Amino acid sequence: MTKQEIMRWLQCPAGSELDTLQARADKTRHEHVGDAVHLRGLVELSNICSRNCLYCGIRRDNHAVQRYRITLEEIMDCAFKAVEYGFGTLVLQGGEDAGLTAAFIGEVIRRIKTETELAVTLSLGERDPAEWKMWREAGADRYLLRFETSNRALFDRIHPPREGHASTSRIAMLKTLQDIGYETGSGVMIGIPGQRYSDLAEDIQLFADLQLDMIGVGPYIPHPQTPMGSWKDGGMGDEQVPNSLAMGLRVVALARLVCPGANIPSTTALATLDGKAGREMGLCWGANVIMPNLTPLKYRRLYEIYPSKAASTETPEQSRDAALKQIEFLGRSPGRGRGDSLYHLQYKTTSKQKEG
Ligand code: 5AD
Repeated sequence: MTKQEIMRWLQCPAGSELDTLQARADKTRHEHVGDAVHLRGLVELSNICSRNCLYCGIRRDNHAVQRYRITLEEIMDCAFKAVEYGFGTLVLQGGEDAGLTAAFIGEVIRRIKTETELAVTLSLGERDPAEWKMWREAGADRYLLRFETSNRALFDRIHPPREGHASTSRIAMLKTLQDIGYETGSGVMIGIPGQRYSDLAEDIQLFADLQLDMIGVGPYIPHPQTPMGSWKDGGMGDEQVPNSLAMGLRVVALARLVCPGANIPSTTALATLDGKAGREMGLCWGANVIMPNLTPLKYRRLYEIYPSKAASTETPEQSRDAALKQIEFLGRSPGRGRGDSLYHLQYKTTSKQKEG
């Protein structure tokens, strides 16, 4: 899709034209990945973070947060719950916490892989490629790293680099992750102050250029205990992308159209903006994945990357029941098996054929 076409979809008024976008995205979803909604159990391992991203509630300098790190046994309890609930994947997400050592994560992966059939997705930020490699060898299947925005100046403005490091290219990191053999996921925030429609259109084109297996997007939600929480606007006038649920849905739809076979979650940020319908709308605008939260309740409210995050007071069982009800309400079915990316399966088959 051309940049102009994408910009037209992002900016057209609500009404019949926009209904066409939704219908096309939903049809493409149905034809390429079917009606199954894959369930990924999310475990938030640690809210300790060495980074100071200007928008994120668990940034290093937010001293109002009580910090935690989960134990190996608690993670295994989540893994067994995921199996019991019929989920195919466990997603291990956390801040850039040096205490989540390469050896610890390696041990977690090995235990999950020996004791269950679950696919393992990691979402642990910018780590040393040697660690990514080691975890892949330990059995991890997938890695999520959002590039947040493809506008480099905007990215640098809101992501102070790692201490002692120069600013980094997430695009290059995503290619490294792909080379290591991960199913690779990325995505962006929508409506970052200073983000223009043309930036967002380029983000969406980049999803296709990177041949992503997974794409997760959500509106930016201001957090009062962050520097960006008090920014008024980015001074972009009517070129500024709004951080609304409606804009989030347009981006989900366009992500589906440019990457028809990708796994696309209806994210927590969508659910946070409309507690009743946000997640269901995501599933109707092209998404085919839900990530119910399995994090032990005592840690849940502490993983507050943005305020009033959906499901922050639910038990894992309530999160599962809510997801199953939504799927049934839409006449869809819970996915069976691991829900691997079609792109990755194809790629693995062709490279095997080449080897043979
Ligand atoms: N609003 C919306 N999304 C946020 N994230 C972090 N902070 C916020 C916020 N304030 C998103 C980022 C990150 C993902 C885990 O959560 O895109 O990659």
